[in-house]
Amino acid sequence: MNSIISGTGSYLPPISMSNDDIAKLVTTSDEWIYERTGIKRRHIAKEDTTVSMAVKAAKAAIEDANISAEDLDLIIVGTISADELLPSTACRVQASLGASKAVAFDVNAACSGFLFAMSIANAYIKSNTCKHALIIGVETLSKITDWTDRGTCVLFGDGGGAAILSASQDKGIIQINQGSDGRGGDKLYCLSRSNENPYTSTDKGLGYITMDGPSIFKFAIKQVPKVINNLINDNNLNIDDISLFVLHQANLRILNTISKRLDIPMDKIPANMDECGNTSAASVPILLDHLNKSGKLKSGDLIIVAGFGAGLTWGGALLYWH
Ligand code: ACO
Repeated sequence: MNSIISGTGSYLPPISMSNDDIAKLVTTSDEWIYERTGIKRRHIAKEDTTVSMAVKAAKAAIEDANISAEDLDLIIVGTISADELLPSTACRVQASLGASKAVAFDVNAACSGFLFAMSIANAYIKSNTCKHALIIGVETLSKITDWTDRGTCVLFGDGGGAAILSASQDKGIIQINQGSDGRGGDKLYCLSRSNENPYTSTDKGLGYITMDGPSIFKFAIKQVPKVINNLINDNNLNIDDISLFVLHQANLRILNTISKRLDIPMDKIPANMDECGNTSAASVPILLDHLNKSGKLKSGDLIIVAGFGAGLTWGGALLYWH
């Protein structure tokens, strides 16, 4: 049995914060942010939570796949910004959707979270233990962003994206590769909000995203081309055979460098970080949904989807669009 992406959905909270808005908080400028990152605006959750955005994206994906919540066998949420330590975001989503027969759990693979969720759901479907899986990437990064640190607060945004993976005889996902290198954990991290044991320490300090930007940049421009080349070579394909490369939206300069290294025209590497910023695990499914709903993904297109991020983690999928 194969798995196909049978539906997509996404949700962005209504408040859109411009670079000029950020320049009122820290010493920066629209010009600096746009030149270094390709980001102009990002959405910020005020009324929404990680769960509410996940549910809104999920409902849109369920509708697009033309199934009902009761059809779901599996719900996996990729997130690093859950509202609660427990229960999982996926269980909250399950309850809200009424997806009573679904097994539900979260994965933490940072910006690769959606790819890791896709890989697990694909394995469930291939082993015939699941017919319809809901996979979600969702983040409220604004609550773990240090709004006094200009090195990071200009980068991130909030939102959620979802996809339904369904069992099918049609060709869908051909291959998924993943990797991790925990030795790079200190390059991008966020201390847990309850990291200090209250029994032994009075330090109640909050954790915020902390990043060694240049190291992450080097990691991304080295690892993502490897992920893409492995998928291409393992399947005896050429770069030209791929219609679109749907990559994690960290930063436009990363995408430009990948385009040059692999000789991929930039019109095959779509970007929406100008409007959304970097939404970590949500960036790939939000972009997939935007491409799907705007008709830029055609049935039979061969595409590569890839994520990379903290951990360090990375993952790539080669698939036919349904
Ligand atoms: N506005 C103005 N100046 C700034 C800002 C800002 N927002 N942020 C940093 N600077 C200054 C620094 O203080 C430094 O000044 P100095 O030379 O006087 O010390 C100067 O700009 C250069 O700082 P760098 O950190 O070296 O800037 P760099 O050119 O590396 O750009 C950036 C920073 C955009 C973060 C870059 O490192 C990058 O793209 N890294 C990739 C990481 C990334 O995209 N992470 C996203 C999350 S991870 C993920 O999704 C995988």
